Amino acid sequence: MWGTHLAWYHLLHPRPAYVIGSGEPPEGNFMTASWVTPVATDEPLVALALDRETYTYKLVKKYGHFTIAIVEDVNLLWKLGTKSGEEVNKLEMVEYFKGKKVPSPIPKNAIGWIEAEVKQMIPVAEVDMVIGKVVHWEAVKGFGRRGWDLKEVKIPLQKAGRSFVFPCEEVLAKG
Ligand SMILES: Cc1cc2nc3c(=O)[nH]c(=O)nc-3n(C[C@H](O)[C@H](O)[C@H](O)COP(=O)(O)O)c2cc1C
Repeated sequence: MWGTHLAWYHLLHPRPAYVIGSGEPPEGNFMTASWVTPVATDEPLVALALDRETYTYKLVKKYGHFTIAIVEDVNLLWKLGTKSGEEVNKLEMVEYFKGKKVPSPIPKNAIGWIEAEVKQMIPVAEVDMVIGKVVHWEAVKGFGRRGWDLKEVKIPLQKAGRSFVFPCEEVLAKG
């Protein structure tokens, strides 16, 4: 469903694409995900629409935690989103460190990341909506009062298939 066929959900793109880290190295994995959203703030919750066919799904279910990393490298996003950890060891393709509150991996070149513990996994069609509680987050550079400084960092959004865009114009709404 994240392939090259144009579909209704492309109306909801461009949307940021992230690297999801799962498991506990040496049993760990990275995959790309763009169907990721904040859900609540009283209790800080985030959700992933995670295909049950993915290796990431198995590791998230087994270990009960994951990370969401922001990287600027679209080639890395494409690579991690088009190969499965069932076939290749993606931990060997990316330099990484483990999270501070959960031991899932985070790419070394991440400009920010979230660490989450699984609160709920809700099966819907071919995915599980994975609701995670944010237990730690960090930005490495270019993050301030108004969020990301787009002059300093590049936040890739997936448009469709292998086509990505970088937001570059910032506008302050009046009123
Ligand atoms: C830009 C992009 C966004 C993606 N978004 C998602 C997503 O939100 N949820 C999902 O389950 N798969 C998504 N995928 C597909 C997975 O990344 C892909 O199936 C991957 O091979 C799964 O890896 P794994 O089996 O190692 O976990 C996306 C792929 C790309 C390239």
